[in-house]
Amino acid sequence: MNFRTVFISVVMWLAAAQAWAAGDADAGKSLYPVCTACHGPAGAGNQAMNAPKLAGQENWYLITQMRLFQNNARGSAPGDMQGMQMAAMAKGPQLASDEALQNLAAYISTFPDEPPAVTVSGDVENGKALYVVCAACHGDRAQGIEAMAGPRLAGQNDWYLVSQINKYKNGQRGYHDSDHGGRQMRPMVATLVDDKAVNDVVAYINSLQ
Ligand code: HEC
Ligand code: HEC
Repeated sequence: MNFRTVFISVVMWLAAAQAWAAGDADAGKSLYPVCTACHGPAGAGNQAMNAPKLAGQENWYLITQMRLFQNNARGSAPGDMQGMQMAAMAKGPQLASDEALQNLAAYISTFPDEPPAVTVSGDVENGKALYVVCAACHGDRAQGIEAMAGPRLAGQNDWYLVSQINKYKNGQRGYHDSDHGGRQMRPMVATLVDDKAVNDVVAYINSLQ
């Protein structure tokens, strides 16, 4: 093999690896039907099922959360009924491989990212002041910062943001030693001293959509 052949095969191998890493949305489609009952056919979320919007969330975060559920790092705390429900779903044998999760996330990323209905109101100005500390990890537009492991919050169901902030506060999220992201998030909610503060910061995040 001369240098040129080696070079070309390395490039082709990298291209194939890249295609795999990006996931195959067609293959992911066959894994999604089980999710529709709670998250909706296009991942818009369903408050009656406590199931959040998945459309518009970044692939790296969807995959991280699926792994946390699979490893009992999320959805295992006593009393976390919704987390337990979701953990059971994540443990389906068809979702065990990295490739399956990549494909599923690729399919979810084809869903239209519609702004959800606003259900939480609060003092947006106060929320803006409270959000200053959040921006370091979630971005100044709440768009998410992968390098900080901080997910996108803008465009998420506001009732879900409230419920998750309360779970960090009561220790149901960030419960497990191996949930490093959740452990990081827990002290961050200390500034949200009461329900009013939680609603205010979420009302501000709503305004960033
Ligand atoms: C029985 C209802 C149900 C089904 C079916 C279900 N989920 Fe969930 N899912 C939930 C609930 C409830 C939550 C919120 C858990 C919590 O409050 O911590 C959730 C949370 C999630 C999260 C975390 C999102 C975030 O931003 O924190 C992801 C990702 C997710 N589900 C993906 C899926 C996928 C993919 C499927 C199909 C394989 C699926 N779910 C099937 C109920 C369900
Ligand atoms: C030091 C970085 C950091 C800061 C600062 C921070 N967060 Fe987070 N946040 C994270 C990480 C990492 C996660 C993912 C944790 C996990 O996997 O449970 C997260 C998750 C969340 C979630 C769950 C979203 C979902 O879809 O699952 C909410 C809501 C949230 N943060 C709100 C806030 C708010 C509000 C503030 C400011 C008061 C804040 N965060 C400050 C790092 C941070």
